[in-house]
Amino acid sequence: MSSPRFNNRDRWRVYKKVIVMFFLAVVALTVVQRGSINMVVPFELQRQARMDNSVGVEPVAVMEDKTFLGLKGFWKTNKQQPHPKVLPSIHEATFTVNSSPRTWDITSSNCSANLNLSSQDWFKGLEDNFKQFLLYRHCRFFPMLFNHPDRCSGEIYLLMVIKSVATQHDRREVIRKTWGKERVVDGKRIKTLFLLGTSSSKEEKANHQKLVEFENYIYGDILQWDFLDSFFNLTLKETHFLKWFHIYCPSVRYVFKGDDDVFVSVDNIIEYLENTNPNKDMFVGDVIFKAKPIRKKENKYYIPPALYNKTLYPPYAGGGGFLMDGSLVKRLYWVAETLELYPIDDVFLGMCLEILHITPIKHEAFKTFGLVKNKTSKLNREPCFFKSMIVVHKLLPSELMRMWNLVNSDLVCTHKVEIR
Ligand SMILES: *[C@@H]1O[C@H](CO)[C@@H](O)[C@H](O)[C@H]1NC(C)=O
Ligand SMILES: *[C@@H]1O[C@H](CO)[C@@H](O)[C@H](O)[C@H]1NC(C)=O
Ligand SMILES: *[C@@H]1O[C@H](CO)[C@@H](O)[C@H](O)[C@H]1NC(C)=O
Ligand SMILES: *[C@@H]1O[C@H](CO)[C@@H](O)[C@H](O)[C@H]1NC(C)=O
Ligand SMILES: *[C@@H]1O[C@H](CO)[C@@H](O)[C@H](O)[C@H]1NC(C)=O
Repeated sequence: MSSPRFNNRDRWRVYKKVIVMFFLAVVALTVVQRGSINMVVPFELQRQARMDNSVGVEPVAVMEDKTFLGLKGFWKTNKQQPHPKVLPSIHEATFTVNSSPRTWDITSSNCSANLNLSSQDWFKGLEDNFKQFLLYRHCRFFPMLFNHPDRCSGEIYLLMVIKSVATQHDRREVIRKTWGKERVVDGKRIKTLFLLGTSSSKEEKANHQKLVEFENYIYGDILQWDFLDSFFNLTLKETHFLKWFHIYCPSVRYVFKGDDDVFVSVDNIIEYLENTNPNKDMFVGDVIFKAKPIRKKENKYYIPPALYNKTLYPPYAGGGGFLMDGSLVKRLYWVAETLELYPIDDVFLGMCLEILHITPIKHEAFKTFGLVKNKTSKLNREPCFFKSMIVVHKLLPSELMRMWNLVNSDLVCTHKVEIR
């Protein structure tokens, strides 16, 4: 995961910053006294102030120069009339909390392994990671280590939800400075959340959890659950978010969900949304249709037939970044409850959509499965290409910062870039 590009000095700089914040936080703590409500208020205000500051500072990008890709009207759908303004009151009215918890209601995580499986032959033949997955597959919910019940209150136009892990402080830091920056565009509020599980190793736990705690204290944008942050547990992260959203987010218009190593153009998201007919079933991303389950054991996405025996997956969007209607998220929660967990989170969501009879929409501006076949292609470093996209996958924090600055500078894009 670590890379020579993001060298030790950069890393140290980030840590140093966090340590300084830590120190400030401790000072603040002693002044205000732990646990009292007073403690929350100043930070809430401070965050609010920070958000208000950025209002108006960030102009909405002018999209004229899209033509260089022959993509004039790229975002537009065939819609003529101006669509009605968001009606949060209607939105709220349709949200019923009947028989739903109003707070995170899971407080204990002592879910034990399903030892019934151990005696079965098909189970014995599986790889260790699948065994571990299956032994704990029935453990559906875990307690929260960090929660922010008010994070979603009020009207939010776009909620940016980012899967991250405890150790990736630097990625979160850069995202907060770039595409994850909270702001208001034309009266539309954009908020950001990071989803975390817990570290596997003792060492990581000791060193990073403290940092996460203070990062969370400063920014208040981290949701953390008490489950192991492993590849197969990404589906848990999905279902936990769905439940959390269902409880705490009554009026969020749209949700963007993505990874912490992608480039995102929020301006392009907004332009896309404004030019699309409102649709309660909207789910758009880098969708693959008719994907086959991978049966090669060396592959990261290998799935043994014992776990999935059909020949094709339902259509699903690459988890690097996709966009959905807020009301759909709530329906996804109900459906997810009825399904057994599947080790690949993107596919799991595809299975949920299939049950809802919703076909996800494929859009060319979402590039979550790699850009071009030719890895050395200049397109991978071409800011004009990034400027016309919604999501582009796999950037190191330093690359993301650089690309963001380029794309948001007075970039002139005139020449035509070919996308292959
Ligand atoms: C699980 O934890 C709860 C509270 O922490 C406790 O009451 C319960 O007995 C525990 N169950 C098991 C099976 O250990
Ligand atoms: C294991 O088997 C017993 C008896 O068949 C059953 O009651 C129990 O629910 C099973 N445990 C799990 C986790 O499925
Ligand atoms: C998922 O997290 C739970 C709780 O930490 C853990 O018991 C389980 O082994 C994890 N599953 C995988 C496949 O890592
Ligand atoms: C496929 O799996 C399902 C459920 O796991 C099972 O009911 C079905 O019999 C399996 N089909 C084949 C052809 O193995
Ligand atoms: C990949 O792109 C680079 C730069 O555009 C080019 O020099 C190289 O020949 C390409 N390689 C292949 C296999 O197409």
